Amino acid sequence: MKTNSFLEIDHYISDLLAPEDHILKDTIKSLDAAGLPQHSVSANQGKFLQVMMMACNAKKVLELGTLGGYSTIWLARALPIDGKIITIEVDAHHGKVAQQNIKNAGLSDKVETKIGKALDLLPQMIKEKNEKFDMIFIDADKPPYTEYFKYALQLSRPGTIIILDNVIREGKVLDDNSQDEKVQGVQRLNKLLSNNENITATILQTVGVKEHDGMAIAVVNQTN
Ligand code: SAH
Ligand code: DHB
Ligand code: MG
Repeated sequence: MKTNSFLEIDHYISDLLAPEDHILKDTIKSLDAAGLPQHSVSANQGKFLQVMMMACNAKKVLELGTLGGYSTIWLARALPIDGKIITIEVDAHHGKVAQQNIKNAGLSDKVETKIGKALDLLPQMIKEKNEKFDMIFIDADKPPYTEYFKYALQLSRPGTIIILDNVIREGKVLDDNSQDEKVQGVQRLNKLLSNNENITATILQTVGVKEHDGMAIAVVNQTN
């Protein structure tokens, strides 16, 4: 039997379970047209985020790193009627492209795009004592991942699911001497996940249409 590649199998899964409609396809096209990098999650990863949202009944979601809004659209589509997403993006141009894509998807009333550095906006949100988030998706720049995770914990309640993209980086995390700041950032994060007693965490390797990588999934423990 012919061995299928990860790519072909990713397509097999997405054809079955995560087909993109024209809104999602146009969102991906808009990235090239506007000069944005092709760093969006894959269709299957978008569906995975939706499954996690449904599992925790997510009504309030926080995202770090909006890019063109592709993952935001997947997330927003899994919200209940009165649900809401706050998505944080440092680049105003990315934010504009995203807002247009989110508008085309008819989701503007569910998505609040905050433009600014996540490291500036997160402490502000914590000070404002917002209601806690049900799910948090961290997908911004990689060097400050541990800081993002610690802020995310402060915006969480027991049961909140925190998901972090790109924590395996084609296996470069195995290199203890890596000088790559992105790799070092996710190595610190993965280590933190291993010794934080307030969470239960794992990492899923991701293969397919994107490069070999991984998503960390952490659930905030019940306190008893
Ligand atoms: N979640 C998106 C992809 C995000 S790519 C999707 O799957 O569709 C990473 C994004 O994080 C880029 O748009 C980048 O501009 C943004 N980013 C980088 N540094 C940031 C920071 N300090 N604060 C907020 N966003 C940042
Ligand atoms: C990069 C960032 C991402 O969020 C991603 O999914 C893939 C690559 C990057 O900065 O290299
Ligand atoms: Mg990513």
